[in-house]
Amino acid sequence: MFKKLASIVLPLLFITNTALAGSDPILARQDMMEDTRDAAKVIGGMLKGEQPFDAEAAMAALHVWKKTAAEAGDMFPEGSESGHETEAKATIWTDRDGFNNKMADFGAAVDAALAANPDSLEALKGAAGPVFKTCKGCHEGYRVEKEN
Ligand code: HEC
Repeated sequence: MFKKLASIVLPLLFITNTALAGSDPILARQDMMEDTRDAAKVIGGMLKGEQPFDAEAAMAALHVWKKTAAEAGDMFPEGSESGHETEAKATIWTDRDGFNNKMADFGAAVDAALAANPDSLEALKGAAGPVFKTCKGCHEGYRVEKEN
């Protein structure tokens, strides 16, 4: 009985969650940035020696970043400056070109890292380091100051 119920309710929960995120650009982009951070934790963990180098996991994380780079541009439409608690700075809308440039820098760094196909910790360091700089490069001007 429980199993049956769970098989109905759980997918429903999932759909509701996704639909909510899909219809609200603020929630959608925060979801996306959380995935982006989870991927950063995987790679950061390897770089800091907290977890062993794993080429496959590193590539999977790079692909998550690639998805962010591809989708993020559409997730800051006009009118989504407020509504939910958001850390997006008004500069995204007053200086759209600057923001788009930061996104392009990020995408280019991710593409280069993917192309490098890092097969060692050293190689991953060289490939992912520039990407982390571009996260910071965008957050500095376009995201309200936060500790993470
Ligand atoms: C081109 C700009 C840009 C780039 C590049 C970028 N971010 Fe963000 N990020 C933002 C903005 C803007 C927000 C605030 C979104 C909001 O609250 O509406 C944000 C929010 C976040 C959040 C908080 C999510 C939440 O739940 O509120 C995390 C974590 C994060 N970014 C991590 C990263 C990491 C890690 C990278 C690089 C791998 C990265 N970001 C690259 C602009 C960027």
